[in-house]
Amino acid sequence: MRKLIAVSAALAMAAVVMVNFSGAADHDDSKKDAAKPKHSIHDVMKQGMKKGLHKKVISGAANAAEKKLFIEMLTSLAASKPPRGDADSWKSKTSALLKAAQGGNAAALKKAVSCAACHKVHKPKKKKK
Ligand code: HEC
Repeated sequence: MRKLIAVSAALAMAAVVMVNFSGAADHDDSKKDAAKPKHSIHDVMKQGMKKGLHKKVISGAANAAEKKLFIEMLTSLAASKPPRGDADSWKSKTSALLKAAQGGNAAALKKAVSCAACHKVHKPKKKKK
């Protein structure tokens, strides 16, 4: 009888350990999300989009440093949380951007960089001041 109790206690412990383990994995994920990307969305929009760096990269006029910066910005963008809209939509848009830039695929980049398509879903509506 004693042995039986010991065995079931051990099984219960194992179950608890397994539950804890998956719980810990979830925690790690949220930590990764919290890590601050190098460039904020705001920076990427101002420096990468509005200033026309994306146009330079698409037209092929960007030098190596500019291309590297643009890819770095898109990496940050993909790692950021959108202020509005669906996380899956954000992920597919930003990863398409990053992939096109990394692959030097100007046609795909031109399509993926569509300002309005992304703003419509992810840019917060004008705040009232
Ligand atoms: C993959 C999505 C995405 C694409 C593509 C995109 N934007 Fe944005 N943009 C955003 C989001 C999200 C915001 C809102 C940022 C915030 O309020 O935190 C934003 C905000 C901005 C802002 C306001 C910046 C600020 O924070 O004050 C400008 C300017 C801007 N975008 C320009 C552009 C231009 C120009 C293009 C196209 C060449 C473009 N964006 C393409 C997602 C995108």
